[in-house]
Amino acid sequence: MQRPLFTFIIALYSTATFAQRQKAISPDLFGIFFEDISYAADGGLYAELIQNRSFEYTGSDHRGWNPMTAWEYTPKGFAYGKISVETKSPLNENNPHYVVLDIQDAGQEGLGLTNYGFNGISVKEGEQYDVSFFANRLAGNAMPVTVSLRSKKGDIYGETTFDIKDKNWQKYAASITVNKSDDSACVVIIAKGIGELALDQVSLFPKKTFKDRPNGMRADLGQAIADLHPKFMRFPGGCLVHGDGIANIYNWKNTIGPLEARVDQRNIWNYHQSMGLGYFEYFRFCEDIGAKPVPILAAAVSCQNSGGTWAIGGTGQKGIPMQDMQAYIQDVLDLIEFANGPVTSAWGARRAAAGHPEPFHLEYVGIGNEDKMTPGFEERFTMIYNVVKAKHPEITVIGTAGPFSEGEDYEKGWEIVNKLKVPVVDEHYYNDPEWFLKNNLRYDKYDRKKAKVYVGEYASKGNRFINAISEAAYMTSLERNGDVVHMASYAPLLAKKGNTNWNPDLIYFDNTGVYPTVNYYVQQLFSANTGDVYISDVVTFDRKKDSTLAASCVKDTKTGDIIVKIVNAGGTDAKVNVNLKAFGALQSKANVTILKEDRGVPVSIETALTKGSMTLDALSMQVIRFHRK
Ligand code: AHR
Repeated sequence: MQRPLFTFIIALYSTATFAQRQKAISPDLFGIFFEDISYAADGGLYAELIQNRSFEYTGSDHRGWNPMTAWEYTPKGFAYGKISVETKSPLNENNPHYVVLDIQDAGQEGLGLTNYGFNGISVKEGEQYDVSFFANRLAGNAMPVTVSLRSKKGDIYGETTFDIKDKNWQKYAASITVNKSDDSACVVIIAKGIGELALDQVSLFPKKTFKDRPNGMRADLGQAIADLHPKFMRFPGGCLVHGDGIANIYNWKNTIGPLEARVDQRNIWNYHQSMGLGYFEYFRFCEDIGAKPVPILAAAVSCQNSGGTWAIGGTGQKGIPMQDMQAYIQDVLDLIEFANGPVTSAWGARRAAAGHPEPFHLEYVGIGNEDKMTPGFEERFTMIYNVVKAKHPEITVIGTAGPFSEGEDYEKGWEIVNKLKVPVVDEHYYNDPEWFLKNNLRYDKYDRKKAKVYVGEYASKGNRFINAISEAAYMTSLERNGDVVHMASYAPLLAKKGNTNWNPDLIYFDNTGVYPTVNYYVQQLFSANTGDVYISDVVTFDRKKDSTLAASCVKDTKTGDIIVKIVNAGGTDAKVNVNLKAFGALQSKANVTILKEDRGVPVSIETALTKGSMTLDALSMQVIRFHRK
């Protein structure tokens, strides 16, 4: 049953007092953290349907993997010959492996390869799929190559045939329309001729990607992310950024330009990065979802857990040699130019060549990811920070304060940031729901004269309702402290069912569906209901008595809306008072969105304001949006 909303308490605040109750808060408070973990990129957000498209998988990516992983040799109808993986004359030196089909007898049907995607390819009846590959006719006559989408049993859903004549690497591309839906289809490539044919960079994309971008994102996942209304997007991680050893540090320059020239890389989370989702695509996706890009670059040191040192607390950090630091710092500067430089600049021209002459309006760059605070880290971070600050005063650099909410690295990280006057520092913590409830006042105690905080990774270790509601209670404190907490992002964002490296996550998915968690709805309720001014003392209750109650009130100056969020993370109903007197005339109806355990998804209603103190159900939250008259 819907309860009466609240009493208008006759407030005794003077105008001056009301002015003092208001403070400006960060316009970039709630965003998202994207890391290529749990198949978030390849096999996930990146819409490519072929797994191991350029035959670059190796046993060091994942035990037992090799260049033929996800592929199968496919002789049909009495054809015979052999298949080999070669490196002698590659399509591109960055992409050394390719497959050679040596067809000795084409039989009636020919011979080739099958790809099973990421545990099956999901296709939909009536939809178009863009297929492309590079081929090089090494010996023999010109031959037809047919690419078909089929069921595992062999029923053909759609196909296209190319005539391969060229005796050097050439790209072939066409679209296939599928006549039947199947969640576990495969792609079969069959050459019908006698001779040797080299193949590489075999790709299949749904025509329908998010915002119809070529080389784009999966439409449903892209939309689920856009529906969070994030103010910013951090990418590409996480530990992925600083990598498993120096050679594994993420290098943004390896991820741009033609797909066949990008450098694949082992993923620290025990799989592979095709780099098809690279820096250009990240920037473009940010723009498409209206989020500010927040790239995070390594502080020229590898992850302290490199070489599998997680269990012993991390001593595997290695620094880029000093003689290479200039080049590393130049890479950081070049990234800023790639994002913002004019098309006449070297890296701005690369952005324009990729199809985006306009700048990406980069404002933030993160240096470091929850690193161990060693002298080697400090030295390198300082070198990078000083140069970026001097050359790009317009860029806000984000430093790092280690992996935990307190402790040695946290203290030392803050000390470094304070010493260098870094404007924002990235804090990470994964704690129990009780911690989030107990620490609601954490940022009320922070010194406003020091760096602002980016809560770059946080989660309460679960996807139960109590986790989500304790995060909601904590988020009211982030809003209340939005003058010192500049940004915050739940982590991680995405995880593929059956391939999770990390739990909990915000959105789970598989090849066919997207499964947002209740934590997702909490994030969404906050990010879709932000304001730029915080107003204190609007919702009142006895904090000492009700440590499981939390609330915030913000104003969106653009619309004039007043947005109140109230969270009851306790097991019994609770009373609060809501005092709106100082706001003047408000419309008689407000939008109320309620999140409760029984439904697990928010439900919105429009309700006339009635008088009476407000009672909040146990384990529930409400977002009440008042419009000005
Ligand atoms: O979010 C998952 C991981 O947690 C990140 O890669 C790392 O930064 C943190 O330890």
